[in-house]
Amino acid sequence: MQDQLIIFDTTMRDGEQSPGASMTREEKVRIGKQLERLRVDVIEAGFAAASAGDFEAIRAVAEAVKESTVCSLARANETDIRRAGEAVAPAARRRIHTFIATSPIHMKLKLRMSEEQVLEAAVRAVRLARQFTDDVEFSAEDAVRSEVDFLCRVFEATIAAGATTINVPDTVGYSVPERWGALFRELLGRVPNADKAVWSTHCHNDLGMAVANSLAAVMNGARQVECTINGLGERAGNASLEEIVMAVKTRSDVFSCRTAIDATQIVPTSKLVSTITGYPVQPNKAVVGANAFAHESGIHQDGVLKHRETYEIMRAEDVGWGANRLTLGKLSGRNAFKTRLAELGVTLASEEALNAAFTRFKELADKKREIFDEDLQALVSDESVTPEQERFKLVSLVAHSETGEQPFARVVISDAGHELRSEARGAGPVDASFQAIEEVVHSGTELLLYSVNNITTGTDSQGEVTVRLTKDGRVVNGMGADTDIVVASAKAYLSALNKMGISSARMNPQYGEETAAP
Ligand code: KIV
Ligand code: ZN
Repeated sequence: MQDQLIIFDTTMRDGEQSPGASMTREEKVRIGKQLERLRVDVIEAGFAAASAGDFEAIRAVAEAVKESTVCSLARANETDIRRAGEAVAPAARRRIHTFIATSPIHMKLKLRMSEEQVLEAAVRAVRLARQFTDDVEFSAEDAVRSEVDFLCRVFEATIAAGATTINVPDTVGYSVPERWGALFRELLGRVPNADKAVWSTHCHNDLGMAVANSLAAVMNGARQVECTINGLGERAGNASLEEIVMAVKTRSDVFSCRTAIDATQIVPTSKLVSTITGYPVQPNKAVVGANAFAHESGIHQDGVLKHRETYEIMRAEDVGWGANRLTLGKLSGRNAFKTRLAELGVTLASEEALNAAFTRFKELADKKREIFDEDLQALVSDESVTPEQERFKLVSLVAHSETGEQPFARVVISDAGHELRSEARGAGPVDASFQAIEEVVHSGTELLLYSVNNITTGTDSQGEVTVRLTKDGRVVNGMGADTDIVVASAKAYLSALNKMGISSARMNPQYGEETAAP
């Protein structure tokens, strides 16, 4: 019998701490349900004390998710823990994850607390959390730079106080696999009640070793890995869920544990998270990158055609790439459309939403001969947007570019139902259309990032555009898809403006400062 490796997904908490990756309540519910389909064991849905919006979003995930455990982060103080307890209360399985920093640098300069004060706060926090649930996780923030003797004392005391999971974070992404594995070996050997808790690893990717470090911890006794879809997360990100899961599965000769993950849901989950957060997946990203299973060189292609295992250690369809196939066409009916969406795990909220999506599907089918699953997913990607969240909508766009002429765009947008018209010239048709929008919106935002990816292959593919805007220190991402990339760009720009409008201040749990969030 192999041990179970618990997969703890923190895409909606640590992942959400990436600039502009904040998610609305509806988006979190959608991701939560998809994570459940992926059979993630624990979903960290957010930090309840960050803002009213975060609290509501965690509660909504707790109501929607039935199988996975739903968790909220809480600093080691009474207010945070009570808030987290209330937020996860509706969940069938709930966890409170409380943390405090244990490294000398954090205790002295950030917390201004002594070792004894930190230890006491940790124990108090765990005891209080146990009043809300039997499933309590304790994390020693910046464990990587903490004194091992002190870590042992804190972990022994928090386990005695009722912590059922002990999480050891490499908060700053500083460790290397050999050292990280050795730390787990030492902690498990030295903490007297170590066998009373599940040991967990949480690694950041600043030196590109988050996955390697996490796996080293697993080899040395960790039985929970904290990770995110697409490796999303603060700075260089967190350990990537798909890489951890596929490493453990593919190298079962090396790892004496297994996960409950349904790997065929990996690619759909990756796409959903990318669409919602506006963080594209790099093409050469392991497992979920568009080129992860593409063989370019003649020698490789020849080998794979003769025998797939010459160059492939995993099968594309086993991680969900099988979905990349022709599904529907121009003549497909409403029922076939609805059925395929259901197979992709998408249930639209109402008959009207289904009808509207079906109309968009027909429009797309008129422009594009073959409709793939990815097209359908892009088509319904803004389905969770409520009317209040969609102040600006694109009504029409004319863009003109000609060699020797300055490109020009004319746009009509709807601003909460009122039509606004304008035109502008720019460096290219995309630039001209953004300038035309700004002529009437005067958002005062600054463009941080503009990127285009094709959703499927071929020149008739839909282009998926990401636009990242900033204003007053807040950062938001917007996405848009269309077979016409100028239209996709205008949609993405308006989607970012809409997000900017609904963002409100929230607190980052680790810095205690205000940042932007839904
Ligand atoms: O990186 C970190 O230390 C964290 C903790 C809150 C677990 O995210
Ligand atoms: Zn973290």
